[in-house]
Amino acid sequence: MKLPTIEDLGDLAGRRVLVRADLNVPLQLQRSEMVVADDFRIRSALPTIELLQRRGARVTVCSHLGRPKGVDPRYSMAPVARILEERVPGVSVLENVRFDPREVANDPSFARELADGHDAFVLDAFGSAHRAHASVVGVATLLPSAAGVTVLDEVEHLSRLLESPARPYVAIIGGAKVSDKLGLLRSLLGRVDQVLIGGAMAFSFLYAEGHQVGDSLVEPELAEACRELRATGRIALPVDVVALESTEPVGPEASRAEPAVVQGDVPDGFRGLDIGPATIERYAEALRGARSIFWNGPMGVFEDPRFRAGTDGVARAVAASGAYSVVGGGDSARAVREAGLADRISHLSTGGGASLEFLERGDLPGLAALRASWEQR
Ligand code: 3PG
Repeated sequence: MKLPTIEDLGDLAGRRVLVRADLNVPLQLQRSEMVVADDFRIRSALPTIELLQRRGARVTVCSHLGRPKGVDPRYSMAPVARILEERVPGVSVLENVRFDPREVANDPSFARELADGHDAFVLDAFGSAHRAHASVVGVATLLPSAAGVTVLDEVEHLSRLLESPARPYVAIIGGAKVSDKLGLLRSLLGRVDQVLIGGAMAFSFLYAEGHQVGDSLVEPELAEACRELRATGRIALPVDVVALESTEPVGPEASRAEPAVVQGDVPDGFRGLDIGPATIERYAEALRGARSIFWNGPMGVFEDPRFRAGTDGVARAVAASGAYSVVGGGDSARAVREAGLADRISHLSTGGGASLEFLERGDLPGLAALRASWEQR
């Protein structure tokens, strides 16, 4: 896909450039102060800002953070701005664009306010490029616009999986709900050799095939859709799962009740929370032979150490495969980084929903807006 680049914006000396970054980072409360818990997206935004500054531009950065309903100090950009201003002095950071309801509504009056005082716009927020919001697509209709380093890098890596992936091409899809990923699964099944399913969404597939799933999370209304997808013969499901009594709490701080490995069916009074050891071995075997891999979504409730073996096992198998590998989505990318395996993955995407939508449709509203902005000129 051909996108306008910063070079196409011409001489930027002394010009004011608005950068839409995706600085939607996790925050945590530390000594009654909100601090950034993971700076991956901040680090990813630096190359574009530095490039613009080297070319003499004066840079303003804007982003959303979380999904606030109006102005809410818990979602202030202040902790992010502190880090950014320290790493790239001279940059100015606007407050959370979602404090204004006109952002999500893509209201032209908000796009005009953002564009005001700027000579050019750079979209670096690949992770938000699937949102037709004012700071993503609206501003691109008003200013000469270009793709930032992150957007170009993401599009190049993800396009490899769309255009001519080396085979076998194996996708690993986890997460809570089939309904969130139905479109992606349908589109992937036309292109991949195998899809390995993990996370709670596996239980909707197992339920559709008549397995007992106990109190595991299921979407019974999707049983028919699950059966249709399985009929392709390219979907692999867990053969065993790690289950816990339903009354036991789950989470990083939860009590240490011992989970059990169950095969085939989850008994009543239990819920499945991770893929089991036999499934990890099967999935690792499938990944050993793969030449291209796409992974999105954890295999279990990995923030609870009792249910992270599946996600860690898959991360190790992807890293060891030697395949061209792309990991997208906050949780799976975080699991890879926490396991110290990031440098053995071909591409860690900054996008969650955006990378899924790009693989499903081959385009995103933010990218289309950049191309349209260029065609108008
Ligand atoms: C993400 O975290 O995937 C992006 O920042 C987009 O966030 P959103 O889903 O709230 O638009």
